[in-house]
Amino acid sequence: MCGIVGYIGKKEAKPILINGLFRLEYRGYDSAGIATIENNGLKVVKNKGRVNDLNNTKGIDSLKGTIGIGHTRWATHGKPSSTNSHPHMDNSENFAVVHNGIIENYADLKEFLKSHKYKFLSETDTEVIPNLIHFYFESSKKTGNMRFLDAIANTCKMLKGSYALEILSSMYPDNMIVVRKDSPLVIGKGVEENYISSDIPAILSFTKDFYLLNDNEFAFISRDSIDFYDSELNKIDKECQNITWNAGAAEKDGYADFMLKEINEQPKSIRETIGSRISKNSKTLLPDIDLDKKYLNSINKIFIVACGTAMHAGYATKPIFEGLCEIPVEVDAASEFRYRNPLINEKTLCIFVTQSGETADTIAALKLAKSKGAKTIAISNVIGSSITREADYTVYTHAGPEIAVASTKAYTSQIVLLAIVAIYFAEILEKNLEKCSELKNDILLLPTKLEEVLKNTDKIKEFAKKIYKEKDVFFIGRGIDYSVAQEGSLKLKEISYIHSEAYPSGELKHGAIALIENGVTVVSVLTNRMLVEKSVSNLLEVVTRGAKTFIVTNQELNHDFDEVITIPKTSTLISPVLSVVPLQILAYYISKEKGLDVDKPRNLAKSVTVE
Ligand code: AGP
Ligand code: GLU
Repeated sequence: MCGIVGYIGKKEAKPILINGLFRLEYRGYDSAGIATIENNGLKVVKNKGRVNDLNNTKGIDSLKGTIGIGHTRWATHGKPSSTNSHPHMDNSENFAVVHNGIIENYADLKEFLKSHKYKFLSETDTEVIPNLIHFYFESSKKTGNMRFLDAIANTCKMLKGSYALEILSSMYPDNMIVVRKDSPLVIGKGVEENYISSDIPAILSFTKDFYLLNDNEFAFISRDSIDFYDSELNKIDKECQNITWNAGAAEKDGYADFMLKEINEQPKSIRETIGSRISKNSKTLLPDIDLDKKYLNSINKIFIVACGTAMHAGYATKPIFEGLCEIPVEVDAASEFRYRNPLINEKTLCIFVTQSGETADTIAALKLAKSKGAKTIAISNVIGSSITREADYTVYTHAGPEIAVASTKAYTSQIVLLAIVAIYFAEILEKNLEKCSELKNDILLLPTKLEEVLKNTDKIKEFAKKIYKEKDVFFIGRGIDYSVAQEGSLKLKEISYIHSEAYPSGELKHGAIALIENGVTVVSVLTNRMLVEKSVSNLLEVVTRGAKTFIVTNQELNHDFDEVITIPKTSTLISPVLSVVPLQILAYYISKEKGLDVDKPRNLAKSVTVE
């Protein structure tokens, strides 16, 4: 996966492209490159490393063109290297391409092109694309602009896999063509200039008017016009959408890192996710999900399918759906679900949770569920993202852009939105109405309680200083607290590179307790009054064996532990929204103590648009 950006207008393209690439770096950051057209010739500068390295690469200052494309890469085929970086050109150097995605049949296409005497410089799948464009351009019977379009449309017909492409040609110095399939791409409309990007925030400071391209649609772009075509090159109309986000929302707002900013934004993101969907003494409003009592009574299972943190939001809310709607819930990793022939039919409701809306496994899982007759709901944070175009119904978390690779505010917003969906269903089913009303009251109080949690971070920071050199950390909890332990453990490992594992507290004694020895840290979440005694017993088992303990709780504990972070009381069902925050903060400060890049951890990318 990667970020792509483009500009066509009167200004110099390079600074605009570099600016966009910096903002898209969260999508991939192993190499970067730019192509512009000057004096009817293509100029490419690219390099291994981050956008900052590109900015210092020889030749970058000489790029003066007013049309250009840029790429920040997360390699899928071919190691990060200058040669493998995008843009890639065809052998005649008349076409330059940047690509986000994977061409699955690239090996066959390479053989085909080699048989026509094409040569390849890189190890990437992408390089077949500019050469195929050249091949079809040469054989096209069309003339003028349609010849350029025809060559690209014929190329796309040969491609299997996913792609968002920006294409420049020295023969069309005033135009750019873009196309997408299963990878994101948006077009920003300006005055005598147009912008292209993988996402909206990267170019939001330049324009608020956007066209969202659907799969297999082409745009032929010049400085003053954008023409849209379907896969058969019939002209189509597209509506321009005005995006009201504030560009500043995607900036750091004075925080040291996006992750810290996003952790602190949680009271706001929860407030916005709640919006007017729930209020005291009135029915829950979710007009985007048009499901009636007859249908909800007919279903016998709900699947919640997602990846990583979004899947943990599923685990955290399974008890809410089961408790309120009295329908069994199965939570599954999208990458497993899609290949295990899950038992689904028209009596199954499948909910897909994804911050980005671009996660390849989650989208594929949704397509599978649909093909088996299930109704599908997408929970996403990104308006117009790919999954929202596939699902029967979409409801948005309104967490705002999440830039840090480690998800924080999206997770808590997902839990709140899933809880609202569960309440909405239970109200339609007329089940557990009193519990629904109590939970609604608790959800409405969450933003204020979150503000309280965020005021008390000093003790967490101090504890991080004590344990940042550790090799292993264990996270434990029972029931819903175990789901939070899983998320806390993921947060720690992804940004601090410390090995960590999450266990149900009662399971430790069945094996993992063998690893507990003097000085090992055990983090425990403890919010369920009914289970407090049992959980404390499990903690004492590890204390006896020398463990250091960090407890997050809203209960009175009659024992001494190394650090106890007390959070406000709330219903156990919705407690993860509060109890996860100290774990996010702990992971954050451990990563900072280790001097790591919190926002862009190694080997990871923000949206995983490949399998
Ligand atoms: C979260 O911190 C991770 N970086 C990752 O697990 C993420 O939640 C997962 O890749 C799913 O992404 P999505 O919500 O955009 O689908
Ligand atoms: N598959 C292409 C490559 O490896 C593009 C990867 C990306 O989306 O960054 O170069």
